[in-house]
Amino acid sequence: RKDLLGLRDLTAEEISLILDTAVPMKGIIGRKIKKTPTLRGRSVVTLFYENSTRTRSSFDLAAKFLSADTVGLSASSSSVAKGESLRDTGLTLNAMGVDVVVIRHPASGAAEYLARCIPAAVINAGDGTHEHPTQALLDLFTIREKKGTLTGLKVAIVGDILHSRVARSNIWGLTKMGAEVRVSGPSTLMPPDIEQMGVKVYSELDAALEGADVVNMLRIQLERQQQGLFPSIREYSRLFGMNQRRLELTAPDALVLHPGPINRGVEISAEVAYGSRSVILDQVTNGVAVRMALLYLLTGGEVNAIAH
Ligand code: CP
Repeated sequence: RKDLLGLRDLTAEEISLILDTAVPMKGIIGRKIKKTPTLRGRSVVTLFYENSTRTRSSFDLAAKFLSADTVGLSASSSSVAKGESLRDTGLTLNAMGVDVVVIRHPASGAAEYLARCIPAAVINAGDGTHEHPTQALLDLFTIREKKGTLTGLKVAIVGDILHSRVARSNIWGLTKMGAEVRVSGPSTLMPPDIEQMGVKVYSELDAALEGADVVNMLRIQLERQQQGLFPSIREYSRLFGMNQRRLELTAPDALVLHPGPINRGVEISAEVAYGSRSVILDQVTNGVAVRMALLYLLTGGEVNAIAH
């Protein structure tokens, strides 16, 4: 494959390859001296039309740990602000010899469009409400690392499913890997095609949490609400917020994930977010490892050649 645009198009074998490749990459992050020469002479551009803390900085670090040269561009500080099109921006970067473009864009389909415009590898770092494949891969990696498998696990994804590219990528990835996926959230924030995605829909959060092995709490996407939020923040928090009482409904060793950034006290209480079942900071660390694996694989790396 030239690009990583979404998990809908990947096979279970391809997902396993990425997760397996991320294991030795995580070993590199654990070292005091993290730099390896694996991608020396390669170049990576992060092209972000939306804000980011985790995704952008972890791609940047992932590239740097592998000795690739990196350039960071944001819409507000580049010629995008003067009206330059995505195609012309891509062609310009390509003409400079870039190997990988990591793009985040508010429009669903923008990463695929860019991938068709340029021969460089394109990685989707989140496109509109469509997909956020690297977030889902780091979520899968974290779950597999803690549980030893993905097959047969009961995973509840909770919240604003309609606007969540994280939810869509997680659903595609988890169902391909044999997990049972439950979704729960307000009916106003549930996509009309959700039943066709191979998941079970729960209108009551408590029912979705019953015996769950993993709970992935989504951020409420206030910036994507067209008509204001319904239900209100207070109702949302009461009906779909994760708290200590609800955590008791899950399996005794259940994991709690959140992609970040957190609206603390809205979709998740502080005591759960920072409690013993939370793997939120593991997700952040694993995001660097998964992104190192993707940069490596998309630039032609051979799995057996990874420096251990
Ligand atoms: N999870 C995630 O995509 O976070 P950022 O918006 O900070 O990159």
